[in-house]
Amino acid sequence: MSAIIDNPFAITGYISPEYFCDRENETAELVGNITNGRNTALISERRMGKTGLIEHVFHRPEIADNYHAILVDIYPAGSLKEFVFLLSKQIFESLKPQGRKFIDRFFATITSLHAAFKLDPVTGAPTFDISLGEIRQPETSLEQIFQYLENADKRCVVAIDEFQQIARFSEKNVEALLRTHIQRCRNTNFIFAGSINHMMHDIFFTISRPFYQSVSPMTLGPIEEGKYVDFVMKFFKNSNMDITPDEVDSVYRLFGGHTWYMQRVFNEIYSRSSRRDPVYNNIPVSALDNVVWSYEPVYKNIMANLPERQKEILIAIAKEGRNAEITSAEFIGRHGLKSASSIQSSVRQLMAKDIISKDAKSYSIPDRFFALWLQMAYGPGAFLKEFSTTLIPRA
Ligand SMILES: Nc1ncnc2c1ncn2[C@@H]1O[C@H](COP(=O)(O)OP(=O)(O)OP(=O)(O)O)[C@@H](O)[C@H]1O
Ligand SMILES: [Mg+2]
Repeated sequence: MSAIIDNPFAITGYISPEYFCDRENETAELVGNITNGRNTALISERRMGKTGLIEHVFHRPEIADNYHAILVDIYPAGSLKEFVFLLSKQIFESLKPQGRKFIDRFFATITSLHAAFKLDPVTGAPTFDISLGEIRQPETSLEQIFQYLENADKRCVVAIDEFQQIARFSEKNVEALLRTHIQRCRNTNFIFAGSINHMMHDIFFTISRPFYQSVSPMTLGPIEEGKYVDFVMKFFKNSNMDITPDEVDSVYRLFGGHTWYMQRVFNEIYSRSSRRDPVYNNIPVSALDNVVWSYEPVYKNIMANLPERQKEILIAIAKEGRNAEITSAEFIGRHGLKSASSIQSSVRQLMAKDIISKDAKSYSIPDRFFALWLQMAYGPGAFLKEFSTTLIPRA
């Protein structure tokens, strides 16, 4: 069964295998981990495609037919209580289609959450409805949730998305607690997905931390260039916009293959072709321009809330393109900044707000549209210069 959609370039989430590009090796690896009883840590930059990959894997017949597959996003959670709430609600939602018998068994095992069992007053359908205050013993509930998974009628796979959040929970023992439960599991496998690189690394690759050596690590990089170009061309073939493989490629290179940013641009281009606009010069440039400026209110708001020192550094990093070595003397001189030591505290603030990120010893702006907007708004830098010279304007 395939979903019918107007625009084949997904930008909000997974649609179906037809609209999912490649990831064949990664899919095989993740399926292999699950079927061989390994837990996985799936790490990448934001918006590279972790959640999409998990959903894609859950659609594979090997998994869909043999497992209860549960995907829970714990991004909003700040405590064990909230974690328990999100996890149990998600399990409940996955069970609901299977009928009352499953739901009854759920509450018969997870007795501590019985208060959450309600019937919809209009339809009479069971719902999961509990306030955080009613979860009085989150540790007991957690234990019962694991009991439930371990005694399910099929094997279970639980993907915990944005897993790095557990390091920010108010309680200090959550990692150890989860690790203890997880290592006892025989019927359930886990995928821990996360994007804030250093936090995921700290959790899984630090000897003294509970999750050390408990997972198969998987790093998700960009989709291969040729595969993505073919994927895009396939959808444009029958539209009346004659975009060329070289133009598609130029967008790939501009974003270093960063999935969501490319999808967003091609979604824009496709939306124009379906309105049958005339073909004009330099399709990617004009689409990109539109997309980037459409986010301007967001970016202006970020800028309005930054102290001047932080703004200066942010603009300087944007002008450098990726991988700015911001404490080098050349960088400081080139952008007329103050001394290296005064840069440090501003950089720390920008990192804490996730506005910039650090990789080995260089810095970049993870939101690639924001980086472009800064370049457009404050003078062109490396990205745009490179982009306009790789594109041959059409006659
Ligand atoms: N292989 C793919 N083919 C086509 N589109 C994809 C692919 N992978 C991801 N996408 C799309 O790219 C966007 C970002 O993907 P996704 O949300 O999976 O990334 P993520 O790494 O989970 O991001 P975040 O760190 O923000 O949670 C989504 O709109 C998704 O539909
Ligand atoms: Mg995600």
